[in-house]
Amino acid sequence: MDRIRIRGGARLKGEISISGAKNAALPLMAACLLSDAPLTLTNVPKLADVQSMAELLRQLGVAVDWTPGTALGEGGRYVLTAASLSGTTADYDIVRKMRASFLVAGPLVARAGQAKVSLPGGCAIGARPVDLHLKALEALGAAVQLEEGYVIVRAPKGLKGARIAFPFVSAGATENALMAASLAKGETVIENAAREPEIVDLGDCLIAMGAKISGLGTSRVTIEGVDTLHAAEHAVLPDRIETGTYAFAAAVAGGEIELSGTRADLIGSIIPLLQAVGTEVQETNRGLKVHRNGVRPNSVDVETEPFPGFPTDLQAQFMALMATASGTSHIKETIFENRFMHVPELKRMGADIKVEGDMAIVTGVERLKGAPVMATDLRASSSLVLAGLAAEGETIVNRVYHLDRGFERLEEKLRRVGADIERQNA
Ligand code: EPZ
Repeated sequence: MDRIRIRGGARLKGEISISGAKNAALPLMAACLLSDAPLTLTNVPKLADVQSMAELLRQLGVAVDWTPGTALGEGGRYVLTAASLSGTTADYDIVRKMRASFLVAGPLVARAGQAKVSLPGGCAIGARPVDLHLKALEALGAAVQLEEGYVIVRAPKGLKGARIAFPFVSAGATENALMAASLAKGETVIENAAREPEIVDLGDCLIAMGAKISGLGTSRVTIEGVDTLHAAEHAVLPDRIETGTYAFAAAVAGGEIELSGTRADLIGSIIPLLQAVGTEVQETNRGLKVHRNGVRPNSVDVETEPFPGFPTDLQAQFMALMATASGTSHIKETIFENRFMHVPELKRMGADIKVEGDMAIVTGVERLKGAPVMATDLRASSSLVLAGLAAEGETIVNRVYHLDRGFERLEEKLRRVGADIERQNA
């Protein structure tokens, strides 16, 4: 099993090229099921989760043609053709590995009248039910049944447009509803829709395929169903979580890095936070420059929220930064009920963190100390790497397969800007 070794203390300098967003690429790939014509996606990151989605699509009969990018950070090109489907079942084996597999449910039932998808279990960060996805598909006229661990969604006569009012914001349920409603008869209105840039990206791609959607990026999205969707080409938007992670890396290690191929508007809530911490952020024509001199970061309080608020997917990384800041920071996690698993690992490195319910109280220490630590989930893994950059001595992050699900060649990107980091095959 691979592990990552970091020797802390190096300042960062140079450029990091930001990859396409995992959380946009996965729903975009599922969208190919809506049409019998090819969907070409560019700027697709090379990640374990993207490979799992490609594998699932292949099992459903999709022809998957992949051309990898050559340079670091340059995305690959996928041509996905679902000319005819060979099945409508997403097996347990693949869904248990990646919950985003559930995103095939909406497109499959809309296109083929049926979907049988393994019910995803809870995962390390929380229970994560799919009840909102199912309520949305039921509102569109599908019948939902649970059988032997599978959800069977049927609409043999097609879906019908409806009003879907979500009780709270869900990215995945909004995506499933958006895709399914694109092929439903009549108008669908999604109230309390997620506003994440990845939803807008999916909607833009669906529009390029011929869907009629308005209100993207707001809480009220309207879809006028069409009979068929056609071929299209779409570039995956830059990864805002990767952008934020490397911005925090510059803040935690000190130095100056330019994040190219990304956009400031994707991390709108992060920029004032970086400034409050004592980091300078400058928009450039290639992306963003992040700079922190030798002064210790300041403590700042944050609370995770749906977009445009502070993202839960950056909470662990921000905690690593606060672990070395001067003063005390309160970090409240409101999206997932169990997303503090990085806390005991950061404490092994000397961090002073107390958890009270959904709040972590982090009192910064002058210096973290390198230690062997265990990655527990994707974003937690990157927070341990960030802590390692700031720590004295050597940190070994074990179980980096979590990291490979969502960060493309992280150790290589950091090494190129001067971090003392390497992957080891243990
Ligand atoms: C997406 O997950 C992301 N995944 C997650 O990324 C991210 O943490 C999350 O959105 C929140 O921003 C992908 O885009 C593939 P939700 P998703 O539905 O869609 C509850 C990462 O590290 N809920 O917005 O599954 C749920 O339990 C990750 O890249 C229900 O109760 O998240 C959570 O508490 C992990 N019922 C909250 O809503 C439902 O039917 C928000 O979840 C659906 C969700």
